[in-house]
Amino acid sequence: MNGEQLLEKYLEKTKTSAKLAQEARRVMPGGDTHGHFYNPPYHITIDHGNGCYLYDVDGNAYIDCVNAYFVLIHGHCFPPIVESLAEQIKRGTGFGMPTEPQILFAQHLCERVPSLEEVRFVSSGSEATAMAIRAARAFTGKRKIMKVDGGYHGTHNIGELNSFGGALGRGELKPMPEIGTNGSEINDVILFPFNEPERLKEIVLKYSEDIAALIIEPMIIPSGAIPPEPGYLETVRDMTEELGIVLIFDEVVTLPFYYGGLQEYYGITPDLTTMGKGIGGGLPIGAWGGKREIMELWNPEKGEDAVVMVSTSGGNPLTMAAGLTAMKQLTHEVIERRNSLGDRLRDGMNQVFSNIGIHGHISGLANAFWIHWSDKPVRDPYAVGEAMSQANENIRNLLFLGMRYRGVYLFPTPSPFGNISTVLQEKDIDLIINAFSETLTDIKSVIAEECPNLLQ
Ligand SMILES: Cc1ncc(COP(=O)(O)O)c(C=O)c1O
Repeated sequence: MNGEQLLEKYLEKTKTSAKLAQEARRVMPGGDTHGHFYNPPYHITIDHGNGCYLYDVDGNAYIDCVNAYFVLIHGHCFPPIVESLAEQIKRGTGFGMPTEPQILFAQHLCERVPSLEEVRFVSSGSEATAMAIRAARAFTGKRKIMKVDGGYHGTHNIGELNSFGGALGRGELKPMPEIGTNGSEINDVILFPFNEPERLKEIVLKYSEDIAALIIEPMIIPSGAIPPEPGYLETVRDMTEELGIVLIFDEVVTLPFYYGGLQEYYGITPDLTTMGKGIGGGLPIGAWGGKREIMELWNPEKGEDAVVMVSTSGGNPLTMAAGLTAMKQLTHEVIERRNSLGDRLRDGMNQVFSNIGIHGHISGLANAFWIHWSDKPVRDPYAVGEAMSQANENIRNLLFLGMRYRGVYLFPTPSPFGNISTVLQEKDIDLIINAFSETLTDIKSVIAEECPNLLQ
C-alpha cells in the first residue's frame, strides 16, 4: 500500500468522524476543545472505551496509547474505579468540605511519595504548578523562577513559556511569551538547558539571589520522553539546596511511573511536588505538596497571614474516591508488570527501525514511549525538534495515519508518542509492534523518495 492508498483507506474507515468533524468545526475552534494536538485530516470522534481499547463512532477499535493524555492509568472503565464512583455518586458529588475519601487519599499520597508531608488538591495540573510556584515565592519572598527551555508545566503564562521543544532552538535561552499573554512573565523566568549540569551551575550562580524556585520534570515527558543523564538531578538538588532555592518536581505526568513517582526511582527528594492526571483515577485533578513548613502557608487557621486559594472543585469527593482507588490498585507488582511491557514495546519498536533499515529510535521509560526520526540519543527538548525535522510533514502524517488505520491510537502530534495502561497484555504490545512494522514497510518507498536521509 502506498501513501495515497493508505490515506484513501483511512478516509473510508472514518466517514462518520469526518462528518462529525465538519459539524464540530462550526462550534469549536478546530472541532475540539481539548488542546492543541492535532493531525490532519480531522479528529476522529470517540464513542466509548473499554479496557485498553477505544471505539470510534464508525465502530473502529484502537489500542489506546493516549489514555486521555496519561490520565487513565488502568485503562477505560476499570471495574474497581467504576464501583467506587457508583458508591460515591449515591452519597453526593460535592460539598466544599472535607470528606473521608479526601483525608484517606491525602494520607495515601503522603505515605507513598517521599517528598510529601502535606498536600492540597485542585482540579488540574496547571493549577498545581501555578500554586507550587506561588508557594515558592511566598516562602522565599523572591520572584524569579527557573525552568527548562522547552519544558511544559501547564496552561499558564510561566508553564507555557518556551514549551514543547523551546521557542528559539539550541543555545538561545531567551524567554518568548506565548501569543496573547502580557509578556511580563519573561522578566520573571530564567531558562536553562536540560541535561547540562555545568550550564545549570553557571546560570544558577549568576541569578541565585533572586530565584524563588526551580521547576523541572524529573524526566521530560511532553517535550520528548527524555530521561535525565546520570548525576544530573543530583546536581539540580545540590545547587538548589545550597542556595535556598525551592526545588519543585513537576510529576503531573510521571508520578504513576513508579510507586513513589520518579523522585523515588531516582532517589532525589524535591521540596515540592506537583501532581495531576493519572492520580485522579480518570477524573480531573491536580495536587501539590511537600515540606510542611511551605505547605502551612495555606493554613487558614493562621488567619490573615494565610495565602489565599479557593478551588471550587478541588478535592471533590468523586475525584478523591476514584483517585484513591486508582492509586491503591497501582501496586509495586502492577507497576513492575506494566513497566516490563513498556520495555518490551520500546525494544520491539527499536528493533523494527533497524529491521526495516530506517534511522529512528524510541525513547522513554516505564509506561511512556516517543518515536524519534533519528537514531542519535535525544538528550534535550531541542533534539526532539531536530529529529522531527529529519522527516517531512507527509511522512510524519503517514506514520500516524498508518498506525491509526491498523488500530493503534497515538498522540496526534507531528512527533508521535504514547503511553500504556496497566491492563494491556503481551499480545496487545505485539500488536502495536506489528502495526509499527507494517506501517514503516508501507511508507518506506515514500521515505526513499521524499526523505532518503532516513534510510540506513
Ligand atoms: C508536565 C506537565 N505539567 C503540568 C501539566 C498541566 O496539567 P493539566 O493539563 O491537568 O492542567 C501537564 C499537562 O500536560 C504536563 O504535561
